[in-house]
Amino acid sequence: MRLFKQLLGVFAAVMLIITVLAVFAFDVVKIDWIVFMEIQDSFGTQEKPLAVPAQSVPVEGAAYIPGVEPTNPVTADEVSVSRGAQLFSINCSQCHGIDGTGSGTIAAFLVKKKPADLTGEAAQGLSDGQIFMTITDGVFNAENSLFPDVEFSGQCPPLNENLSVRERWDVVNYVRTLGTAQP
Ligand code: HEC
Repeated sequence: MRLFKQLLGVFAAVMLIITVLAVFAFDVVKIDWIVFMEIQDSFGTQEKPLAVPAQSVPVEGAAYIPGVEPTNPVTADEVSVSRGAQLFSINCSQCHGIDGTGSGTIAAFLVKKKPADLTGEAAQGLSDGQIFMTITDGVFNAENSLFPDVEFSGQCPPLNENLSVRERWDVVNYVRTLGTAQP
């Protein structure tokens, strides 16, 4: 009987310790420890990315120099154009339409601004560099935007994170073939 009581005492003590630990482990009582990951000067999800540090060069090499219109370094050969066609159908056709006329499935839902007709004179009148920069930065129009404070306003979106520099030039070469006034 004595032994039983002693065992019961030990058991009660162990349970007490487990309970106390569990209270903290499962955050019933939350202690806000300083976590260094938390207090560092970093960017959270959905926050604007860091500005590119001065003098830095992207891994792929300098795609363009700010303020200077880039020139097309990729020859519009069969490989480039067919790659561009594929990338266009993946990244652009939902808005601009597979034929580039702006008849994509999403176009009907774009209320403020319709996708540009890429076969038309206005778009074909753009230089390769301007089309490249449109793909890179998108087209923003704050006055027409539903979210004037947000950089991405749902018009031509910036696709620099989806398409590498080379891929963007391939798309440019493909967009050129959409023009009716193609020589
Ligand atoms: C979410 C829909 C959407 C996608 C995806 C999209 N665009 Fe656009 N694009 C637009 C809209 C809307 C406009 C018209 C913007 C305006 O006039 O303000 C536009 C305009 C343009 C223009 C004309 C820019 C100018 O200055 O006149 C070009 C060129 C263009 N897009 C190319 C592309 C290419 C190439 C892709 C794929 C890599 C692409 N867009 C993907 C919606 C889209």
